[in-house]
Amino acid sequence: MNKETFINLFKDEINDYIVNGKRYVNLDSAATTPPLKAVQDGVDDYLVSYGSVHRGAGEKSKVSTDIYEKSRQVIKDFVGAPTGSYVIFSGNTTGGMNILAHFFSHLDGKVAVSSIEHSSSWLPWIKAEGERSLNSRMVTSLNDMGFVNDLIQKNGNSQVLRYCLNGKGEFDLKQIEKLLRENKIKVFVLTASSNLTGYCPDIQKIGKLVHKYEAYYVVDGCQYIQHHSINMSEMGIDFLVASGHKFYAPYGGGFVVGPKIFLDQFLPYQIGGGNLPYITSDGEFLRYENNLAHDPGTPNAVGAVSMAAALSELKRIGINNIEKYETGLTRQAYDGLAKIKNVKLLVNGKQLTTVIPFIIDGIDSEAVAEKLNNDFGIGVRAGNFCVYHVVRDLLKITPEQEKAIIRDVKRGETGNMPGVVRASFSICNDSEDVTRFIGAVEEIAQRKNKK
Ligand SMILES: Cc1ncc(COP(=O)(O)O)c(C=O)c1O
Repeated sequence: MNKETFINLFKDEINDYIVNGKRYVNLDSAATTPPLKAVQDGVDDYLVSYGSVHRGAGEKSKVSTDIYEKSRQVIKDFVGAPTGSYVIFSGNTTGGMNILAHFFSHLDGKVAVSSIEHSSSWLPWIKAEGERSLNSRMVTSLNDMGFVNDLIQKNGNSQVLRYCLNGKGEFDLKQIEKLLRENKIKVFVLTASSNLTGYCPDIQKIGKLVHKYEAYYVVDGCQYIQHHSINMSEMGIDFLVASGHKFYAPYGGGFVVGPKIFLDQFLPYQIGGGNLPYITSDGEFLRYENNLAHDPGTPNAVGAVSMAAALSELKRIGINNIEKYETGLTRQAYDGLAKIKNVKLLVNGKQLTTVIPFIIDGIDSEAVAEKLNNDFGIGVRAGNFCVYHVVRDLLKITPEQEKAIIRDVKRGETGNMPGVVRASFSICNDSEDVTRFIGAVEEIAQRKNKK
């Protein structure tokens, strides 16, 4: 597939969006992606026959339900889900992780989470574990809630252990095995690709260790499945979580794929209408033993259908073609930025995938991002990306500096928070975008030198 073909995957009005007289260059796909043409068209088609899902006898209801249900199979096929998997629709990855954290909080044991995890794949576990630990402790007055909230965090943190990168910026299998051997880990959480450095750990090797110690394996595929080939069965992934808006389907859909045999044991995370077959006169609700049990309320069918449309399109293009194309663009950007004085690249060239974190010496990262947008029509993101630990590490923030940051934040001042700039690349970009980006960064860095 050539460059032209990739760009043609998006509608002209998206490719030709103008900012301050310039064609907008979107280098923020790691945050969210524009819709593919196939997704927009697929959703428009679906809306023609849109009717109530799982709730009506009318033709539109039947057609809508059928297409909605088929979207689960498309997702399962794309991720190589084992036979007997459910697809639970969640609003996004955050929602999916909260669902899983809730289920697992009923089981005995601890949780292991990596130090590069997005806070959405870390904090839900602390909260769920902490809430479980309260047992029957009830508050008698709202004034007591502060104490209870602190207790939730404290207890939750004691149940959620973290494994870290080694000096080479990789996960150390020996350290992971030690953690698994010395603690009763019930569930092991790993991001398939860091949202800030793009580092992709060896999912399969780590999975083998996780299973050796009989823990469940949860993988955050949010930054991975749109760039790299994934296969849950081959990689030994028990639960995979992802967000539609990161893979060109920004219609509020996300998913968790996980084993029926596990999910059938739990009451639904949310209960109400549509996800139970009967409520007795005593108020006992009976349950489904299928996907529907975890589909509370009227579902976001458009979200589900849009995800299926996106994954079908990515499959048609070929994920290996996508990976090759995107890695080429990112390498071009990396090599270009590496030549600019005062630009500090914060990613190891060997681990390069589709994101580049960097700073320009002496210029605040937020200001760099603002200038890129305002002066050059290039959209990137600056800040801490919900991975405070990774940013602290990359910028070598000392404990003293951190104390000052905490003091400021508690006073309501967030202006001094450490941050970096992140440029991320996807099939919505081409080599000309990268050239413009390198030129813009160079100009910003030079302007600073001239001052
Ligand atoms: C690796 C990773 N996990 C989880 C999330 C949270 O995703 P969402 O905001 O769609 O819930 C993100 C979002 O940036 C992410 O990059």
